[in-house]
Parts: sequence; structure tokens; C-alpha cells
Amino acid sequence: MQERIVASRCLSVREGRLFVEDVSAVELVERFGSPLFVLSEAQLRSNYRRYRDGFAAGWPEGPVDVLPAFKANLSLAARRVLSEEGAGADVYSPGELAGVLSTGVDPERVSANGGGKTREHLANCVAAGVRITVEDPEEIDVIEEVAASLGKRARIRLRVKPPLPSLWKPTDFARLLIPIDLGFQVYKSGIPREYLVDLGRRALALPHVELVGLHLHAGRHSASLWYWRGLMRHFGDLVADLCAAWGDWRPAELDVGGGMATPRDPHSRMLERGEFLASLVGFPALTALRALGAATYHATLARLIGSLLHEHPRRPLAPSIEDYAATITTELRARLHARGVPTAGVRLQVEPGRGLYGDCGLHLARVKLVKRQTEPVPLAWVLTDTTEFFLACGTMEANRYDVVVADAVDAPAVMTAEIVGHSCGPDRLAPSAPVPELRPGQVLAFLDTGAYQEASASNFNALPRPATVMVHGGEAEIVKTAERIDDVFARDVVPRRLAVPEPRPARSA
Ligand SMILES: Cc1ncc(COP(=O)(O)O)c(C=O)c1O
Repeated sequence: MQERIVASRCLSVREGRLFVEDVSAVELVERFGSPLFVLSEAQLRSNYRRYRDGFAAGWPEGPVDVLPAFKANLSLAARRVLSEEGAGADVYSPGELAGVLSTGVDPERVSANGGGKTREHLANCVAAGVRITVEDPEEIDVIEEVAASLGKRARIRLRVKPPLPSLWKPTDFARLLIPIDLGFQVYKSGIPREYLVDLGRRALALPHVELVGLHLHAGRHSASLWYWRGLMRHFGDLVADLCAAWGDWRPAELDVGGGMATPRDPHSRMLERGEFLASLVGFPALTALRALGAATYHATLARLIGSLLHEHPRRPLAPSIEDYAATITTELRARLHARGVPTAGVRLQVEPGRGLYGDCGLHLARVKLVKRQTEPVPLAWVLTDTTEFFLACGTMEANRYDVVVADAVDAPAVMTAEIVGHSCGPDRLAPSAPVPELRPGQVLAFLDTGAYQEASASNFNALPRPATVMVHGGEAEIVKTAERIDDVFARDVVPRRLAVPEPRPARSA
């Protein structure tokens, strides 16, 4: 376990206790309450620099910009750290644009992505001088109009949607076995290939629009380098095809989007599929067993549960930031050169979200109680004071986190239990986890929750969302306050006609 923990530089184990930089996880909960989101500033800076330096080493022929996906973590303090480092940003909405601009980011390094942008948003983008990544064919006419009215020239890139025929393996975004190339096509984003040639020609003729490059974001269909090799080959081919179609146009910049995994990549689609396949055999067997009567059925189930609910094999670590950088740059360059597109001077951009923020964050929660049953089948639950609704994106993506007992990292497992949240649903935060003896009040750390989790948390069951603290060496500061119950209902309006009646004064006798 310790080896996996220290795969993130911000985490360490000291005398059996988990530390984030120089603060113990237990101390964080004692000071700031539970549950709690935690971010490590040192990890964020280190991850950012590794992206910057890794891609710069692989792409010496031109400048490199790292544009972290702001949607992955909406903490303005964390974003301020990145702006201080010189990072750009991928923003998806007017709110994200306003957020990153408030942190002093260089607007030239901001890419406004997203489909269906409104005229007002596009005008704000042009006025702020950010790059606009065009997602829909209709967008460029509006950009031309608003740029003309502002007396500016808008810098745009086209977000492309190439066919990816070599990517035949299943995408991790789907529960079923759907090949990556199909999964990518089904996703709404990007300009379909059939529009690109004409659209580019039109853009090149517009006086207030400058077509500076092309953009591809396919996302984390797979953590493997195989996937990135294929993706870059197809991107290179499309770039070359468009260069040929648009005369002597050459991209000034190419953006490869995000989708690189964080080292202890919590995605567990493979496990989920394995369980599904096992259930195809198991379900008919269990149905047949019922015919032998309840006693035999439950006795067999009890034995089966013991062997079925076992520790899931630890998944291997994902490729490192440097591995992704080397593979992406090598493959893209090779394809472009093979197709006669020079890369000298081309600016390369990369938009990591999960790969940058993921292991900067952890989620801490206290054990509320441990509950066991022996009949009709033996089971155990560790009930915590958090919920999957605070880790909503992870729930959607079938994440399984590494879970660490913060004050007893090395304690040996004595049982298999479901680590669950306290919402009314099954709320299985860590199904069939091997756990040591646990007492109420002990702190559990769910690792790698820095990307998308806090940003997607909801108030299901009227649970107030937790605070976020950022650790900086031996210090820890609140960077997002915890909600109170009043905040959960703050947007509610009860019309006057439904107002709760004032209690009637008691009649005097
Ligand atoms: C345009 C764009 N860029 C980058 C990202 C970041 O992706 P990831 O977190 O998988 O790196 C996203 C995520 O959805 C995105 O939509």
C-alpha cells in the first residue's frame, strides 16, 4: 500500500499515519471537520511543471502551453496557483471563463471550448482576447460579427472529429463493450469531418477571424499509450488532409486536449465488466440453487460470499506524465512529417484535467459505525459520514478509489466490508474492501479525488457539501467553505400563498 501512496509526491506515511505534505490527515479532520476535500499545493505545482517540462522536452521545435481543464477543479485558490505558475486554461462556459480570468491567467493562453456558445459569451471571449475553439459550424459567423463590432480579430481553432478506425478496443466511458472509435463518434463534441474543408475555407476568407490551429479532445477512453499512439496518428492524418485542402495553410498551433490518467487511475471499468461477466454465470447458478431450499441456498451463498468478496487486485499504475508526453509528441510529429507537414515553430497545447488535478486531492471522512450481519448471509458495512454524491463524477465513471485508514495505514485487514456513504442509496464507496478493525471516529482517506469530484458534488438527501482545504507545507487553509443546512435550501422560494400559517394565539379561557 505504501508504494502506491507515495506514487503521489505530496503523500507520505509517518509512523503509520497518512500525511499530506507536512500535515496529518487526522489533524485536518480535527481542525476542519468531516467530510473534507483536501488539495496539495505542492502536488499541483509539481504536476503542472511535469506537464510543462515533459511536453517541452518532447516538442523542442515550438512553444508548449499547458491549458489545465478548469472544470476538473473549480477552486479559485488552486487555479490561482496555476495562474502564478504561468498555466493557461481550458474553459467550457461563461462561468469558467469568468473564474479563470479572475485569477490573473494570461488570456492568450485560454481556450474557450464548448458547444452552443451564446453570442454574449463569444463577445466576451473576443473582448478578453482568449482563443476560441469552434465546436459548431454556425459559430464562426457569429464570431465574425462580434469581432467586427468590437473592431478586433478573433483567434480561432477548429475542434475536429476525425474517424479513429484503428481504435478498436472498448472505451472506458461505456459500461458495455463499445469500441473507442464508435464511442468517440457518439460523443456530441467536435466538428464532423464532412464540414471541415468548407468551414476552414470560409474561416480563412473572413476578415475578423484568424484560423490559427486545430484542436482534438477525445478524452480518457483508455489510460494506455496504445490509445494515444492511435489518436495522434489519426489527428496527424486529418491535419495533413486539411492542410492539403486549404492550399498553403499550416497550423500555427495544435491542441491535443486532455484525457491522460492520474497515476493511481481510479477508473475501474475493467473490474466492472469482469463482475458483469461473472454474474452471467453466477446468476443462473444461484437461481438453480434456490430449488434446494432456503437453508442450503443461504449456506452456499455464505461460502460463496467469502470467496467472491475478496480484495480486488490492485490495478497497475497508469503511464507517467513524461510517458504520455513522449508518446504524444513522438507520434504526432512522426505522422505529420510522414504526411509532409512541417512542425517547426508549431505551438503545441495540452489540456490535462484528471491527469493534473487527480492525485492533488483526497477526500477524508470519518467512520460512523461498523455493522455486521451473520444471517442469512454474512456481510459487513463500514458506514462513513460522506456519500457518493460528493464524489458524483467518480460514481458516474465507476471509480474505485484506494482507501487508506489515516491513523493506521499499515494495519492488517481482518475482514471484507462494504465501505459505504450515509445517503439513503446503497452508496457503495468501496465495495468489498479489505479493512482492519475500525472504530467510530477513525478517518478514512479516499485518494485521487482532486479532479471532477468536488466540482460535481450535489446535495442529495439535503446533505451540505463539504469544505475544501489546501495544504501548503505545514499549513492548511480553507479554500472553499463547507455548506450549512440553510445553504442547501438557500435557492428555494415558497410562494406566499403556500406560506406556513402563523400559529394562532391561544384562546383565553
Ligand atoms: C475540451 C476539453 N479539454 C480537456 C478536458 C480534460 O479532460 P481530462 O480531465 O480527461 O484530462 C476536457 C474534459 O472534459 C475537455 O472537454
